[in-house]
Amino acid sequence: MIVVLNFGSQFAHLIARRVRDLGVKAEIFPFDTPASVDEKNAPHPDKNIFELGIPILGICYGLQLMGEMLEGAVERGEHREYGKETLRILKKDALLKGLGAKEIVWFSHGDQVTQLPKDFVKTASTHGCSHAAFADAKRKMYGIQFHPEVTHTVHGTKILSNFLFGICKAKKDWNISSVAKGIIEKMQETVGNEQVVIGISGGVDSLVAATLLYKAIGERLHAVFVDTGLLRKDEVEGVSKALRARGFKNLHVVDASADFLGKLKGVSDPEEKRKIIGHTFIEVFERALEKELAAHPVTFLAQGTIYPDRIESAATSKDAAKIKSHHNLTLPETMKLKVLEPVADLYKDEVRKIGKTLNIPHEMLWRHPFPGPGLAIRIVGEITPERLSILREADSIFTEELKKAKEYEKIWQAFAVLLPIKSVGVMGDARTYEYMLALRAVDSVDGMTADWHKMPPVLLEKISSAIVGKVRGINRVLYDITQKPPATIEYE
Ligand code: XMP
Repeated sequence: MIVVLNFGSQFAHLIARRVRDLGVKAEIFPFDTPASVDEKNAPHPDKNIFELGIPILGICYGLQLMGEMLEGAVERGEHREYGKETLRILKKDALLKGLGAKEIVWFSHGDQVTQLPKDFVKTASTHGCSHAAFADAKRKMYGIQFHPEVTHTVHGTKILSNFLFGICKAKKDWNISSVAKGIIEKMQETVGNEQVVIGISGGVDSLVAATLLYKAIGERLHAVFVDTGLLRKDEVEGVSKALRARGFKNLHVVDASADFLGKLKGVSDPEEKRKIIGHTFIEVFERALEKELAAHPVTFLAQGTIYPDRIESAATSKDAAKIKSHHNLTLPETMKLKVLEPVADLYKDEVRKIGKTLNIPHEMLWRHPFPGPGLAIRIVGEITPERLSILREADSIFTEELKKAKEYEKIWQAFAVLLPIKSVGVMGDARTYEYMLALRAVDSVDGMTADWHKMPPVLLEKISSAIVGKVRGINRVLYDITQKPPATIEYE
């Protein structure tokens, strides 16, 4: 197994992902968030780690730690390197084997190793970074200042593969069926003879989590699907039908839309909305447990949390920026239930692959991700029944058109957003004064970063005409071309 030591950067997850993609089990050990190795309280691993005799690859901050802890020197870089750089390879050692003399790599750092650690040799450099890679082949220790895990590093996978198979002699022990089997066994062990409740959101993650749990503990799994009134068109019926078709008997659909919409009335602050939804969700859930599940003493709460949810919600250290409060993670706090997260270590594409091995229909698996707070975070400002119904209708037309044009599955996530600004239009002979609708479609691997989808203009036009023609209340359609970062995928 490959252990990825995480010193607080999101890249750790990408590295683990790439290693898994190469078929080797990888796990992450978390630390706190650093900025620079010479900063006070910068996290350091146990020095003995370098005495273990195991192969080590230090990436970025990891290379700097090696520089600092193995008798080299690190200095604050004057020359900051962010983005693509040309790497000149000086020595094609076991790590850099098979690469060209020059390679495009991606940097994200400010500090530099200015003096090689003892017994190491320099293997590559760039214009601004002399020690871009170094190695002590005898001790199988390697350091690279750039990121092999990001796709911008053209032959990054080759480097990781050299490390895994050439240097570590790793076995290919990570494949999706063994992962699914492992999850089912672990769930059986953890749950024992107890009862579990899971919240179904309509999304892929909770559906796969529920299916895995159903395989593990059968009728001791109870699913609660809360209709928040913020779901997509026909979602409640569609998802319920799919679950029942899979043999699920213990499915409780709770219509709480009046509750949610009542509490959201007059609220336009995004975080406030998320909090209200989170709290209301807990209340509704608790009520469902008391009433509908009274006969079953439930002790576990299962959630469809996946890796990216955890990273972005991780406000674990004082320095880590909290991006958004993901309501699905605030659930257990006030509940006396033990939390179960069957797919918490997986990325979306892995969840989908597992779903496929469980024979979940293709269409269900390839639905775009849908956030817990639902359409509430896709209506900028106050949520009203009128705005909801406009958005629901427009969103459904958008999705339909994408599917018809066979564009839907090329996109990570596509949805409509209601902007509460009215502008003037003309329809027939009449002047209109109606809302604007933003269309958001993004390409992404895991939701952590995203690029706007380069939608064919003809299709955009078709979608725009269909929406303005069919949905009363919208007279203008905009297409969002912002990347994440700096924007987020959702609007609130
Ligand atoms: P953002 O908007 O943060 O979204 O760029 C990244 C991904 O996460 C989804 N998302 C959520 N999912 N509960 C969820 O279950 C939430 O509160 C939530 N907020 C954002 C979003 O749809 C995108 O896929």
